[in-house]
Amino acid sequence: MRFLLCFVFARALYVACDKVQIISYSIPGEIAKAEQFPYQVGFEYPGNNETRFSGALVSPSHILTVADHIVRNKTLNVYLGAHRFHNFSETGRVNRVVDTDKDVVIFPEYDAERALDNLAIVILQEAVKFSPTIQPVSLPMVRFNSEESYDNEVVWVSGWGEKPPLNKKRKTLHYLNVTVHPYQDCHVNNPIESVQLCLDTSSGRFICSGDAGAPIVLDRGDSRILVGLANRPQRCISEEPQIALRISSYLDWITDNLL
Ligand SMILES: *[C@@H]1O[C@H](CO)[C@@H](O)[C@H](O)[C@H]1NC(C)=O
Ligand SMILES: *[C@@H]1O[C@H](CO)[C@@H](O)[C@H](O)[C@H]1NC(C)=O
Ligand SMILES: *[C@@H]1O[C@H](CO)[C@@H](O)[C@H](O)[C@H]1NC(C)=O
Ligand SMILES: *[C@@H]1O[C@H](CO)[C@@H](O)[C@H](O)[C@H]1NC(C)=O
Repeated sequence: MRFLLCFVFARALYVACDKVQIISYSIPGEIAKAEQFPYQVGFEYPGNNETRFSGALVSPSHILTVADHIVRNKTLNVYLGAHRFHNFSETGRVNRVVDTDKDVVIFPEYDAERALDNLAIVILQEAVKFSPTIQPVSLPMVRFNSEESYDNEVVWVSGWGEKPPLNKKRKTLHYLNVTVHPYQDCHVNNPIESVQLCLDTSSGRFICSGDAGAPIVLDRGDSRILVGLANRPQRCISEEPQIALRISSYLDWITDNLL
């Protein structure tokens, strides 16, 4: 099994991070209010409370997330409407178990060796009922193009990732905002592709480890649009932009599989 390691150097701290995590050295992420991110979905391997990742509810029975963690275990615990990750008796929360052999569609070009195309859809056999704590997020209306690139827009990322320097898992959902940077100007070793979403981390707020699949959402007032999902960690330093999955580049595959 591959193990992704990223070493973070920030404020003289080295932090090893093997999973995507929302962190900030200068400005801690804020604690979410209950019902603030009702599309947020938490995942955990049964019997292993040290592994967690996120996803975004996009229909009563479909969750978008990263493929990496899906393919590693036969069953997954799925938490909808959750706020405190391990409080299973929370009001408005739904806990499910999915079988990754049959309840999952992996993006056909997914390849564990590459960070691109790291996308999967988890299917809930029994549709979930919407409520104040459980609501879907909208998908982008159009495929990626220059008019709908989200460049320079402020987007919201939420998750239960670890908090450095001790890398303790967060008990309660956290969030932060970041700005989308034009991908054409985005270089992390190499230029990035339009299927990736470039996040400007110069504010000191960035996603690092512990929150693979964390929804990246644009709030347009009347609608909230899922523009990205946190992907595998890159080098987690605030001098470099961060690269996420751009949902609008995968719209055809997603909508085909939501039917
Ligand atoms: C997969 O799930 C089982 C319980 O169903 C658990 O014991 C095991 O640790 C999990 N595997 C990983 C890689 O976490
Ligand atoms: C996981 O469970 C163990 C044993 O109950 C506990 O000590 C640990 O704090 C838990 N970890 C998390 C992240 O909840
Ligand atoms: C868990 O949720 C219940 C119901 O909302 C609440 O009464 C309880 O205080 C919570 N427990 C913790 C440890 O937060
Ligand atoms: C983003 O977060 C920062 C720090 O919490 C805050 O000062 C800023 O107003 C936020 N931006 C928006 C658009 O809400």
